[in-house]
Amino acid sequence: MLKKFLMAPGPTPVPEKVLLEMAKPIIHHRTDEFSKTFAEAAEGLKKVFNTKKEVLMLAGSGTAAMEAAIVNTLNPGDKVLVINAGKFGQRWRDISKVYGMEVVTLDMDWGLSVKPEQVESYLTANPDTRAVMIQGSETSTTAYHPIKEIGQIIKTKADTIFIVDGITSIGVHETLMDEWGIDIAVTGSQKAFMLPPGLAFIALSDKAWSFCEKAKIPRYYLDLRRELKSQLQATTAYTPTVTLINGLKVVLDMMFEEGLENVYKRHQVNGDATRAAVQALGFKLLAECPSNAATGFYLPEGFEGGKFEKFMRERVGITYAGGQDHLKGKILRISHLGYHDAFDTITAVSGIEMGLAKFGVDIKLGAGVTAAQEILKNYIGE
Ligand SMILES: Cc1ncc(COP(=O)(O)O)c(C=O)c1O
Repeated sequence: MLKKFLMAPGPTPVPEKVLLEMAKPIIHHRTDEFSKTFAEAAEGLKKVFNTKKEVLMLAGSGTAAMEAAIVNTLNPGDKVLVINAGKFGQRWRDISKVYGMEVVTLDMDWGLSVKPEQVESYLTANPDTRAVMIQGSETSTTAYHPIKEIGQIIKTKADTIFIVDGITSIGVHETLMDEWGIDIAVTGSQKAFMLPPGLAFIALSDKAWSFCEKAKIPRYYLDLRRELKSQLQATTAYTPTVTLINGLKVVLDMMFEEGLENVYKRHQVNGDATRAAVQALGFKLLAECPSNAATGFYLPEGFEGGKFEKFMRERVGITYAGGQDHLKGKILRISHLGYHDAFDTITAVSGIEMGLAKFGVDIKLGAGVTAAQEILKNYIGE
C-alpha cells in the first residue's frame, strides 16, 4: 500500500466534504438552483478578496485570469513594469510581450522580494507606465512581495494600474484589495481554495474597469465586459464549471466557519513550523521574506534533488515540489497551502528527515520535527 500525500504548492488536497459535494449528479447551469449557489459563491469571494467589486469566475487555470487581466485593460505599445523575481513573474513578462506591450522588467535574484522604493523610483522616472504586475507570493521561490506597500504608491497614480497575481497569496495572506489599491487581483481554484484545477477568479477596481473601456485588443472568450454582464445576473457567459462552483460554495462555507483570520493564522503557524524545521536540520531558506504558502530550502551541494523528489513521490507517497529552471534539483519546496494542518506539517517534515537520511544526507532524525512541534504545540486545540 502507498498512502499519498500532496505537499506541493498546487494542486492542493481537496477536503472530503468538498469531494462529496462534487460527486453529486450534475445539474443544469441555466437554473435557479445553480444561480443561487453561484450568487452565494460570488458573494463569498468578495469577502476573501476584500472588495466591493464583482469577483468574476472563469473556466480556466490561473493563467487564463492573468491573460484576461492584460487583454482587457492594456494596449499594444503600453509601457508596463513587471516584477520579475521568479517563474511566475516571467509569465507576466511573457504574456505582455505576446500582446505587444513595451515590457520593462525589474529583475530580482530568485528568493528576493522587491522593495517598494524600487517600484516608486521607477514610476517617478517613468510616469507613462500603464501597469505594474507582480505576484503576491512568487511560488517558484516561495517569496512574498510587499503588495500592500506597493499598492499605496500606485493608488495615487491615475494612469497606472496595479495587477496582482494572488494565485498563492489570496486565501493564504490577508489581502485587502480595495484598501491596498490593488486594481486587478487574480487567483485560481487549486491553491488556497482547496479545489481541483479549472476555475480562475479575477476582480477589477473602478480604475481597471475604466482602462477596460479603452482596451482595444480583440478578445472573445476572455472578454470581461461580457462576463460581468452575465455574472451580475448570477450566471456566466458560457457554460460554467458547475461542479467546481458547487464545490467552491462548500469551500467558502468552510473558510468562513473557520474564520478568515484563523485561516491566515493556520497558514502562518504551519509556515513558521516548517521554516523552523528545515533550519533546525541545517538548511538555508530560499526566500528572504517567505510566503506562508510554501517553504523552499537549498538542498546540500551536489545532491540530486530530482531523484529524491521522484523517490519520495513514487516510493514513499509524498509529493513535494522541486525547483524550476536554474534551481531544478537544487531546492525543495514544501507546501502548507490550503487544506493543510499541524499534522500535515509533521508528516512533511518527518518525510524530509527520513528521506534525506536514506539518501545519505547527515540528518539528525527528529530535529526538524521537534522544532516544528515546539511551534505547533501552542496552536493545536486552540
Ligand atoms: C504564483 C502563480 N502564478 C501563476 C500560476 C499559474 O497558474 P495555473 O497553473 O493555474 O495556470 C501559478 C501556478 O502554480 C502560481 O503559483
